[in-house]
Amino acid sequence: MGEENRVKRPVVYVGMSADLIHPGHINILQRAGELGDIVIGLLTDEAIASYKRLPHMTYEQRRAVVENLKGVTAVVPQHTLDYAENLRAVRPDFVVHGDDWVTGVQQHTRRRVIEVLAEWGGELVEIPYTTGISSTQLNRSVKEIGTTPNIRLSRLRRLLDSKDIVRILEAHNGLTGLIIENAKVLIDNQTREFDGMWSSSLTDSLARGKPDIEAVDVSSRLQTLNELFEVTTKPLVFDGDTGGKPEHFGFTVRSLERLGVSAVIVEDKDGLKRNSLFGTDVAQTQAPVEDFCERIRIGKRAQITDDFMVIARIESLILDKGMDDAVGRAEAYVDAGADGIMIHSRRSEPSEIFEFCKHFNKLTRRVPLVVVPTSYSSVREAELADAGVNMVIYANHLMRAVYPQMTRVAESILQHGRAFEAEPMLASIKEALSIIPENAA
Ligand code: SPV
Ligand code: MG
Repeated sequence: MGEENRVKRPVVYVGMSADLIHPGHINILQRAGELGDIVIGLLTDEAIASYKRLPHMTYEQRRAVVENLKGVTAVVPQHTLDYAENLRAVRPDFVVHGDDWVTGVQQHTRRRVIEVLAEWGGELVEIPYTTGISSTQLNRSVKEIGTTPNIRLSRLRRLLDSKDIVRILEAHNGLTGLIIENAKVLIDNQTREFDGMWSSSLTDSLARGKPDIEAVDVSSRLQTLNELFEVTTKPLVFDGDTGGKPEHFGFTVRSLERLGVSAVIVEDKDGLKRNSLFGTDVAQTQAPVEDFCERIRIGKRAQITDDFMVIARIESLILDKGMDDAVGRAEAYVDAGADGIMIHSRRSEPSEIFEFCKHFNKLTRRVPLVVVPTSYSSVREAELADAGVNMVIYANHLMRAVYPQMTRVAESILQHGRAFEAEPMLASIKEALSIIPENAA
């Protein structure tokens, strides 16, 4: 048969995330293959992160899998949940999808697919959803297996690349790690959860009944990380304080990286460090710019993977040194190799942070920007993201949540000579037991 006589096969478009391929996907692809040549619209990390957690595998890894599946002739990136743009570019004869999207969160996407296909007479083919297996179940199993240091470590950069703003919450022991791992709310049909953990020097010290002055040594802090990493899979950002003696900072970076920590934030203070939120009420000094740049370089030289991040924290606004000093330092620190900048403020409203953002966005080399809205807590994540902030850290909130309640319970027991009156303040034993997944099973 000559080229010209060969019948052109219909084009069939299948949109998928393809993170954990299971028989449900294969059923869809089999049907699609019967209808024609399959073009996979592979959702990018950004598209997936817009409505649920990041996939386990990167886009490139997922592409390597799907392009080798039977019947697949092409793989194109689908940058949004909405199919319209890709459909208009590919103009497929068919779209094949499981019938699970007839109701629920994807209804609207489905309606759009039907409307757009109608523009050239394309057809939506839906096949019965495969029961007994789902990505949600598989994801649960993967969580039970856990993660590896490398996968955890590289996840932060992937999140920064795929999300408008990365949301981090403080954890100081296994229990708080589990809360961050599992807390979820559904808003407008989208799951919202924390992206990772912050190991705070303040709360890690408080948990040990000590002040936030680098009195808890790095080895003890690493023990907390071990405890957290035993029971979680999300990435962690480590509060490295001043980094300690410059000669020691490289060793800290190596230890953190070996455990699977994604980033260290090191602050530009000198001498005895006190908590930033004391501001100028206590004596605190800022390091000369060049000294701190050297601290950043030591960290960068020590790391082994490409993905580990050394983030430089600027204390100029905390210490009333002014906006020019803060912006000048940001530029110098980025030039010295910082992978990100954290700008801190102790004002009760976010105006100086927004002003900093304006200057920062104009710098020639832009790296991720981190903020810690403890004192200006009324600011919303969406406002920060619009201003150009890439990561928000809620730095002490789980510790601050339990302290007042624990104190009240202790006092109530003393006052009444029994625990009965404290009961309304307490989790039931059943609730307390079910926090641990093994007990709930
Ligand atoms: C911490 O959580 O320890 C921090 C943030 O470094 S702050 O307490 O605001 O200085
Ligand atoms: Mg700290």
